[in-house]
Amino acid sequence: MEYKIALIPGDGIGPEIVREARKVLDAVCAKFGHTFSYSEVLLGGASIDVHGIPLTEDAVDTAKGSDAVLMGSIGGDAKTSPWYQLEPDKRPEAGLLAIRKALNLFANLRPAYLYQELKEACPLKEEIIGEGFDMIIVRELTGGLYFGERKTTEENGIKTAVDTLSYNENEIRRIAVKAFDIAMKRRKKVTSVDKANVLDSSRLWRSIVEEVAEDYPEVTLEHMLVDNCAMQLVHDPAQFDVILTENMFGDILSDEASMVTGSIGMLSSASLNDTKFGLYEPSHGSAPDIAGQNKANPIATILSAAMMLRYSLDLDKEADAVEEAVQKVLADGWRTGDIMSEGCMLTGTEQMGDLIAAAV
Ligand code: IPM
Ligand code: MG
Repeated sequence: MEYKIALIPGDGIGPEIVREARKVLDAVCAKFGHTFSYSEVLLGGASIDVHGIPLTEDAVDTAKGSDAVLMGSIGGDAKTSPWYQLEPDKRPEAGLLAIRKALNLFANLRPAYLYQELKEACPLKEEIIGEGFDMIIVRELTGGLYFGERKTTEENGIKTAVDTLSYNENEIRRIAVKAFDIAMKRRKKVTSVDKANVLDSSRLWRSIVEEVAEDYPEVTLEHMLVDNCAMQLVHDPAQFDVILTENMFGDILSDEASMVTGSIGMLSSASLNDTKFGLYEPSHGSAPDIAGQNKANPIATILSAAMMLRYSLDLDKEADAVEEAVQKVLADGWRTGDIMSEGCMLTGTEQMGDLIAAAV
C-alpha cells in the first residue's frame, strides 16, 4: 500500500530521532511491501528561522494532505536561543499548540509501560515495581489552560498575569469517550483525574465522565484527585490501566509516568482527532543540551511511528514488528545513555536506529 507521511523533524534532537524513525519505517516498507512518501514540514524554531513564524498555513495544509504526521520535537534553550526573545505567541511552543488546534488533535495518548529489560533503569524499589505496569494516559490536548484566555497587565506598578482553565461539556465528553473506548480494549478500568475539591472545571469534568461511563457498564470508573495521582504513580503504578485527564494535568503526569518506566526517552505518543488521522511524537522535548551529539534515545520516536502504523494506517502486523524489534534490541543488551545500566552495551542514536531497523 502507498501512504503519505508528513515528517516534522523540528528542533534540538528532533532531526536525529526522526531520521532513525524513518530508517525503521523504511525497513517496514521493505519487509511488508509498502511505499511511504514523505514530505518535510517545518515547525517550531526551524520554521521561525525560515519564515519568521513557528507554523505556516502551508505547513498545516501539507499535514492535512497526508495520512499521518510523524514529529520529532520542537523548542530550544530558553536562556540562550534567540527564539525566546520573540513574543510568546511567536515562539516554537506556540507552533506546536497551533498545529494541535488546527488539526483538531484533542486526544493525546501516552502509553507508559515497563519493559522487563529496563527494570534496572526504573527508579522505583523492586517491591513497588512488582510484576511491572502498563498504563496509558489519555490527555485532553486542545482545551484547558493551554488554550484559555491569557493576559498580563500592570496597575500601579504591580503586574498581574491571568490564565484561564475552561472546558465545555462537549470537549469533556469526546475525550472521555476515547478513554472508555480504549479501556474496552485493555483491562477495562478508567481512572479520571481532576481537582474537583477545588476547581469548577473539574466538577463539570467529573459529572460528564460519569454520564459517559453509563454507556460502558463493563468498565470500572474511579475518580482520583491529581495530587493523589502524582503520589500513586510512584507508590503503586500497577493500579492504573487508563488515566483520563485534562491538558495540563496530563502534561505533568505523563512526564512523571515516563520516568517510572526508566526514561522519558521511551515514551511515545499519539495525538488524534475524531478520524483516523493523527500526529505522532515522543512525549519528551528537544533536549538542546545533547542535540547533534548522537546521544539521544530514538526509541520514543520509533515507538511513536509504531503507533502511527497501528492507529492511522491500520497496519497492525507492521506495528507489532516495530515493537518487537525494540524489545529484541533491548533484550540483546543495547542501551542509549539515558537507559544504560551495568552489564549493558552503550550505543548512540544512529546505531540504535540501525539495530532496530535490522531487527524489523
Ligand atoms: C508535551 C510538551 C508540550 C506540552 C510543550 C512543548 C508545549 O511538554 O508535549 O508534553 O506542554 O504539551
Ligand atoms: Mg510535556
